[in-house]
Amino acid sequence: MELLKKYNLALSEELNNTLQIKEPEQLYEPIQYIVNIGGKRLRPILTLLTCDFFDVDFKKAMPAALAVELFHNFSLIHDDIMDNAPLRRGKETVHEKWDINTGILSGDAMLILAYQLFEQYEAPLFRELAKLFSKTAMEVCEGQQYDVDFEDRDNVTIAEYIKMIDYKTAVLLGAAMKMGAIVAGASESCKENMYRFGRNLGIAFQLQDDYLDVFGDPESFGKQVGGDIIENKKTFLYLTALNESEALQAEELEHLYTINPKDPSDKIKAVTRIFNESGAAEKTQAEISKYTKKANEVLGRVDISEEKRTALREFGEWLMKRTF
Ligand code: IPE
Ligand code: IPE
Ligand code: MG
Ligand code: MG
Ligand code: MG
Repeated sequence: MELLKKYNLALSEELNNTLQIKEPEQLYEPIQYIVNIGGKRLRPILTLLTCDFFDVDFKKAMPAALAVELFHNFSLIHDDIMDNAPLRRGKETVHEKWDINTGILSGDAMLILAYQLFEQYEAPLFRELAKLFSKTAMEVCEGQQYDVDFEDRDNVTIAEYIKMIDYKTAVLLGAAMKMGAIVAGASESCKENMYRFGRNLGIAFQLQDDYLDVFGDPESFGKQVGGDIIENKKTFLYLTALNESEALQAEELEHLYTINPKDPSDKIKAVTRIFNESGAAEKTQAEISKYTKKANEVLGRVDISEEKRTALREFGEWLMKRTF
């Protein structure tokens, strides 16, 4: 997307300046590695863009944007350990390339680096940003714990699933946008509505991530397709398929989610078939549209020009059509 280029360029430059490899290399190299193998940089872009949209130089939001991206990358390193994931952004995950201990400590260091970045803001701004960041980071941990707990539970409800993805993913998108609004000195109601926009978009975003985890093209997705099925993740696809299937098929699906075969390809194929046949795949797409729409409704209440609102809506639409 054209709109994103200027933010992306500035971000790459600042990330390079912020992350220099020094001793001990085993700590800093994986940090550079994970950040430099790419990613969409969605969250920091949202921070910069929001600040920009409230007519304040987006560079003022750069430390907050970098902090959000470092936090996100920290959570990915640890998430890949927890999810046994071999691939990230089309490359080996940190714990595969190095080892689990390296992943844990480099991840921890990134979280600390993220906090340090807020020190660049003076007193009242620093406090407001750090407070939002801590609250959000805690919620992400809670969401991640629910995600793991659900792997071993067989009575997870859709409502519980939505709460889980709201916490593990959506609150960070909301906070990324709110930080941009905070730095720009936007009104309380604008800050809140930007937060809500980001949070609804974030739910749609995680639903789409779960969808791509099953139906994505391994080349462009950059992660192991079928990873959620291997790990018995209770996604919207799974829960909907269970609700919508005939008794026999539901039983088959439940059974498939109790086995952990050495070669998972048959399990992935069978589960994917049920996700299609039960209509769960279509229903997931409908749910993505529902939350994208909700996000757009909230945007109507934000005090920015119609032109900027349209740009944000188009950004949301683009995000939901992504294949990566
Ligand atoms: C992956 O996030 C983790 C989720 C919350 C779905 P992204 O899809 O934004 O990952 P990158 O940063 O672009 O690789
Ligand atoms: C990740 O959810 C959420 C966080 C990292 C907090 P996923 O486990 O679905 O993310 P991916 O698919 O590995 O990127
Ligand atoms: Mg994962
Ligand atoms: Mg996970
Ligand atoms: Mg995923």
